[in-house]
Amino acid sequence: MEQLSRKQVERLTQAFRDRKIVVFGDLMLDEFVWGDVTRISPEAPVPVVEIRRESVHLGGAANVLGNLVALGAQACVVGVAGKDAAGERLRASLRDASPLQSDERIVIDESRPSTVKTRIIAHSQLVVRADRELRTPVNGRTEDRIISILKDALRDADALVISDYDKGVVTPRILAEVLPLAYDRIPVLIDPKIRNLASYRPATLVTPNHHEALRMTNLEEDSDFGLHRAAQLLREKLNCDAVLITRGPGGMVLVEGDGEPVYVETAAREVYDVTGAGDTVIATLAAAMAVGASMLEAANLANHAAGIVVGKVGTATASSEELISSFR
Ligand SMILES: Nc1ncnc2c1ncn2[C@@H]1O[C@H](COP(=O)(O)OP(=O)(O)OP(=O)(O)O)[C@@H](O)[C@H]1O
Ligand SMILES: [Mg+2]
Repeated sequence: MEQLSRKQVERLTQAFRDRKIVVFGDLMLDEFVWGDVTRISPEAPVPVVEIRRESVHLGGAANVLGNLVALGAQACVVGVAGKDAAGERLRASLRDASPLQSDERIVIDESRPSTVKTRIIAHSQLVVRADRELRTPVNGRTEDRIISILKDALRDADALVISDYDKGVVTPRILAEVLPLAYDRIPVLIDPKIRNLASYRPATLVTPNHHEALRMTNLEEDSDFGLHRAAQLLREKLNCDAVLITRGPGGMVLVEGDGEPVYVETAAREVYDVTGAGDTVIATLAAAMAVGASMLEAANLANHAAGIVVGKVGTATASSEELISSFR
């Protein structure tokens, strides 16, 4: 693939600043508890972790927001939180993350817990992960509120990102009400899950990873050929403008219209932690498309951004400065 020049990347990232991107999807908190183990519990043969430090990070759709802000774009996220301490924390972290974010964008649903993944780590090793979540679709009242918040937020938006983590916030009814409206005017990008596959329309760009793309199309061959076929089938099924499949260490493949596939090799030089790389990809694609970059240019930028974050530990983001420096 032809690489952008550093000058072009500077121009694109400069333009991010006056673009507004709306993210809708499953908000999550990643909670880390760090400690030491010095003994085994008398109650059961399990380690006792003495807590030294705790931290929380934005996850899921909230991490897409974090990535957009790191790139210098204006962004807000629409989603659902429970009426619990984690929900409070989530809203506060989101407000801190983005000046455009306000509490009204987050629907508090008393019938669900906030999605939290807690990892307990001792001596640099994960001891256990505990998830708090409810994956049933949100009820009709919550759907109504989300639809009205999204319609309002979309009025002056330059791109829409759907970040579906299959936690029940993205529903067919919300998609049917919102996507046609947005697609009429701005790029619509979707990080999909299989449950809602039939409802992601109309869309500009759909970005499954290779496992998801093969499952969605009932194919098995995880090769250039197989993923090209999967992208074609997905495009036919969804009637979207383009499909970009991410392949972990294998980079990406982009299929735009009926065109030939473009294979993109990963830009990563060192790989420490691949969590959240998919969020970085969709955030960068959205920012690039909001400033009028071509799909190929957007994929080129997203590939560099992903290459940067996999070289960092923990759910990480790439800044526009880092992005510029990664181009020659
Ligand atoms: N192990 C790796 N080595 C090099 N590059 C990687 C690796 N993993 C991810 N990447 C880069 O990050 C991009 C997105 O990663 P991936 O395909 O794993 O997305 P994903 O499965 O949606 O990730 P997640 O859902 O965990 O955020 C890839 O296209 C590639 O550019
Ligand atoms: Mg993903």
